[in-house]
Amino acid sequence: MRNVRPITEEEVKAFTTISANAYPGIDLFDPENRKRFQERMINYQKNGIVRHFALFEDGEMRGVMRLYDFTMNMLSVKLPVGGVGGVAVDLLHKKERVAADMMQFFLQHYKEKGACLAALYPFRPDFYRRMGFGYGTKKNLYRVRPGHLPKGKTKANLSFLTNKDRAAIQDCYDRFLKRNHGLMERSSFLWDEMFTRPMMHTVGVKRRGTISGYLIYQFQRGRDDHFLANDMLIRELVYDSAEDLLELMAFLQSQADQIERIIFNTQDEYFHYLMQDPRNDSGNLLPQVYHESNTQGVGIMYRVIDARRLFRVLENQNFGDVSCRLKITLDDSFFPQNAGGFVVDFVNGRATVTNGDAHEVAIKLDVAEFSSLVMGAINFKKLFEYGLASISDKAYIVLIDRLFAAPKPICLTEF
Ligand SMILES: CC(C)(COP(=O)(O)OP(=O)(O)OC[C@H]1O[C@@H](n2cnc3c(N)ncnc32)[C@H](O)[C@@H]1OP(=O)(O)O)[C@@H](O)C(=O)NCCC(=O)NCCS
Repeated sequence: MRNVRPITEEEVKAFTTISANAYPGIDLFDPENRKRFQERMINYQKNGIVRHFALFEDGEMRGVMRLYDFTMNMLSVKLPVGGVGGVAVDLLHKKERVAADMMQFFLQHYKEKGACLAALYPFRPDFYRRMGFGYGTKKNLYRVRPGHLPKGKTKANLSFLTNKDRAAIQDCYDRFLKRNHGLMERSSFLWDEMFTRPMMHTVGVKRRGTISGYLIYQFQRGRDDHFLANDMLIRELVYDSAEDLLELMAFLQSQADQIERIIFNTQDEYFHYLMQDPRNDSGNLLPQVYHESNTQGVGIMYRVIDARRLFRVLENQNFGDVSCRLKITLDDSFFPQNAGGFVVDFVNGRATVTNGDAHEVAIKLDVAEFSSLVMGAINFKKLFEYGLASISDKAYIVLIDRLFAAPKPICLTEF
């Protein structure tokens, strides 16, 4: 008999053992690391950041995971989203569907809590794509010479920020969140944590008591054999306006004599426009004449758990002013209650899920690709071109693209 439930404090040790074996890279065999991991688990659990769940079979713990109750800005609507991380299975019980059962529990759990979406960072994209998770926005890693960033007009409003500025920084993030699709709310506990990490430094733009932009960075050794070769790793860059962004860039630009490279990890696909010279330090040339500017990674994945409800929750959203009765049929072999067809009646962009089957146009796709489509990570035309979606009448492709047009989602939350 299997069941999945939250763990008790006595079960923290068994949870740690499974995690230690699944992630040897984080070295939880070291007693100090293990102790810190367990203290963090208890602290996070107490502060409601995360809940630890485990799958038990015949009373024995077989697999573990962390669940996160997120609130995400989806197309300007704040929605609950279920997050999962730290999935790990007892080495003796791999390939027995332990992870699959935990993931199905996870989806059901958040469906019952009213979430229409789930998110995760995959250890292997294919493993979760099979389970219906679709790709989000890729991340770009830039290694820029400080001198190639904009010089800005002034640095007059810049200062180092400390824990005292936390409330104003949080306000700045919250305004950024309102303007950016995909961002997750951040609890004050996590903000506290950010400001207690000694290697993190924050520089912000202060205007009349308001923080209108900030960047969080840490130094990184550029070369092991040379203590003067240092890089700056940007952990977060948030701003209200171009003026604020340029002032922060002026700060980075002026580090040219001390810093070799500024490292940005960003989901902004246009970021290279900011730079005088966007080439990274690889010197690589792609055929014919394309200079390597950044490396890219596939990371965060999204999954629709309850497609019909998603359109109900987004009833006040304007889907591109489109008027059309669209039938959406989803393949969802991993969470079959979400599979099948339903009709959404769009009138001047407003969506209503109907009970009938009458429709003008029908599309069919897997829930993984549908999840990427509704999140704005890809458009319908591309899915159709790749054979990942079908449509009853090709003439409607432009309309369907208008309907789902959304900015690419960004996420600054690590979990
Ligand atoms: C990765 C890991 C969690 C997998 O655990 P596992 O219990 O061995 O995995 P499962 O047996 O549940 O395998 C997935 C199963 O889901 C099922 N499944 C997947 N997609 C499915 C679908 N669309 N419909 C129905 N079933 C599906 C299949 O049965 C599949 O098993 P198969 O590949 O043998 O066919 C485990 O190997 C581990 O702990 N690895 C180390 C830590 C790690 O990397 N964790 C991931 C962090 S996010």
